[in-house]
Amino acid sequence: MGRRSLPKLDAAIDFSNHITEVDDLQAPFCPQSLFAQSADLEIEIGSGKGLFVLNESGKIPERNFIGNEIAHKYCRFAAYRLAKAERTNAHMLRGDGLKFFRELLPDHCAVAVHVYFPDPWWKERHRRRRVMQPGFIQDLERVLVPGGIFHFWTDVEQYFEETCELMKEHSDLEGPFAVKPSPAEHDMDYRTHFERRMRKNDHDVFRAQFKKLIA
Ligand SMILES: C[S@@+](CC[C@H](N)C(=O)[O-])C[C@H]1O[C@@H](n2cnc3c(N)ncnc32)[C@H](O)[C@@H]1O
Repeated sequence: MGRRSLPKLDAAIDFSNHITEVDDLQAPFCPQSLFAQSADLEIEIGSGKGLFVLNESGKIPERNFIGNEIAHKYCRFAAYRLAKAERTNAHMLRGDGLKFFRELLPDHCAVAVHVYFPDPWWKERHRRRRVMQPGFIQDLERVLVPGGIFHFWTDVEQYFEETCELMKEHSDLEGPFAVKPSPAEHDMDYRTHFERRMRKNDHDVFRAQFKKLIA
């Protein structure tokens, strides 16, 4: 993430009910236990400041949303925004998303998984930190319901192409299907903060969807 400082959080807003540590969860874990009501579930890994989860949980109140973010300060900020907006269908999990998928999420629990603008980790010795790696791809396929969708967007063309190749090699999901950007109707009408930054600076964004086959 860019290193810009975040706005100060209003101490009067209690966001403790909107955030949980991944390391405090235990298997077997039911993701619906984070919410007041069970509903179709969407999960984002690497939520940053949480614009996607905030906007989508407002647009689709009949679904539940989990945002996952490893950086404490971004995760806290995202949870704060959800609490401020009084969302009961969205929750942030602070910790390693790869571990969350690998060790905690049950099979067929999500109708969609989202990865937007993951860090590319260019150096060879840092590659294992990439979110898009074979083990995660197998987990995301397992976690999706039949007919579920995986959304992947990045500004890094090489990461996009490598991910499309990895998806082909390590999953049976159909795709990539191209996705067109929608026009922004207001200043925060972007999928994520990174999409906003890229589009405002006229950078390319590479977008794809993959669909899990209905057996
Ligand atoms: C480049 S930022 C993009 C943030 C957001 N998706 C957006 O588009 O604005 C990538 C984010 O992924 C988070 N991240 C990296 N590795 C992660 C992991 N293993 N689990 C959860 N979050 C992770 C980083 O802390 C960072 O906030």
